[in-house]
Amino acid sequence: MTTPRKLFVKTYGCQMNVYDSERMAEALAGEGYVATHRADDADMVLLNTCHIREKAGEKLYSDLGRLKPLKTANPNLKIAVAGCVAQAEGAEIIARAPHVDLVVGPQAYHRLPQMAARVQAGARVVDTDFPPEDKFDALPRPVLRRAPAAFLTVQEGCDKFCAFCVVPYTRGAEVSRPAARILAEARALVDQGVVDLTLLGQNVNAWHGADGGLAALIDALSAIDGLARIRYTTSHPNDMDAALIAAHGDNPKLMPYLHLPVQSGADRVLKAMNRKHTAAHYLALVARIRAARPDIILSSDFIVGFPGESEAEFQATLDLIEAVRFGAAYSFKYSARPGTPAAEKPTLPEDVLNDRLQRLQALVTRQQVECQQAMVGRRVRVLVEKAGRMPGQVTGKSEYLHAVFLPGDANLIGRIAPVTITEAGRNSLGAVLAD
Ligand code: SAH
Ligand code: SF4
Ligand code: F3S
Repeated sequence: MTTPRKLFVKTYGCQMNVYDSERMAEALAGEGYVATHRADDADMVLLNTCHIREKAGEKLYSDLGRLKPLKTANPNLKIAVAGCVAQAEGAEIIARAPHVDLVVGPQAYHRLPQMAARVQAGARVVDTDFPPEDKFDALPRPVLRRAPAAFLTVQEGCDKFCAFCVVPYTRGAEVSRPAARILAEARALVDQGVVDLTLLGQNVNAWHGADGGLAALIDALSAIDGLARIRYTTSHPNDMDAALIAAHGDNPKLMPYLHLPVQSGADRVLKAMNRKHTAAHYLALVARIRAARPDIILSSDFIVGFPGESEAEFQATLDLIEAVRFGAAYSFKYSARPGTPAAEKPTLPEDVLNDRLQRLQALVTRQQVECQQAMVGRRVRVLVEKAGRMPGQVTGKSEYLHAVFLPGDANLIGRIAPVTITEAGRNSLGAVLAD
């Protein structure tokens, strides 16, 4: 018997890359690759990359630099680059990094086994096509993972073309996977013990099928016995339709946490970003969502220092944050991405970006801490996922996606435990089992 080849996978970027990395590892498992957690022990290193900001892209090249000596030590080592940098810069990667053997774009992952075979035979291969067939049909079904929470990609690509964003170029046009396939995959995951499912898409609430939009899909998924919790991410404000808002009030399996990026609170900036909505529209949407589900916790993404953003416009973003009160937020300095319309515009000085980022983060951190503290004394239900940092402790997620630690042993893993929150830290909550 031949010894199996070892595969080391490193994932950058969003949850869709996490999902894709698992699918790729499963596809390569069919070719005899087994997972290793050490790059220096691997026969193939697969880097699943992100292109969203300049720093994200640079990480690839610094990692590739670090891999060079490994390849010198083990000439049989194969280096593969997947993900959004692969899509955007396929040919350039091959030219810049001669030790890279394989470059595969996000729509071509089902071709990975054949590509790996060619690489083993000594070829260098690049595939950044957008083939007509659905990669997920051709990839193996997710295998047993024994984790009670899982991701499921339902939609890929984006047609929104925000002026700053590379995703429409790296992931292509919006495509919804058919409901029947999603339901079959969800049932298979539930059969394996998954109780908490997060539906993924670059624009997940743009998902549509023969029987309606995302609300209809969530409704169909809710009928699966054993599936207790449904979440979805990431949403665009303009695709929050009435049915989806209503689902937050009506569907007890749909969890009360929603990531709804707004990016800016200034109408001129929103227009320049091509977001196609105003700050007032966002605030009205938040009010409708909270009317449907008053305890929902909202989070958002923000970009500070978009080209031309004035101090008053930045202040309008802080005002919007004050008005909404977010439970969490992700904020980024604007990063000019080649090929996007905003990259043509002059950028603001770095110290302005740093100053605005710091002020915005101070505000959202304050709101996050307040949100965490408001949970103290409340009863929530925690899906216990794994052992905690300390012996005799386990950790999991509340319905609000808070990380919660509680005393308990491995028997609790996979169970949804009623708890009372006893203490709040900045990023997690402490709790005891409630009777
Ligand atoms: N599809 C999602 C988000 C995709 S990217 C949405 O529409 O909201 C995740 C986040 O990265 C974005 O919400 C945005 O805040 C940030 N981002 C995207 N491009 C960026 C850029 N060029 N510079 C800085 N941040 C960026
Ligand atoms: Fe990028 Fe905008 Fe599409 Fe989100 S909606 S992925 S920010 S283009
Ligand atoms: Fe990054 Fe691509 Fe996701 S650019 S954020 S990995 S869609």
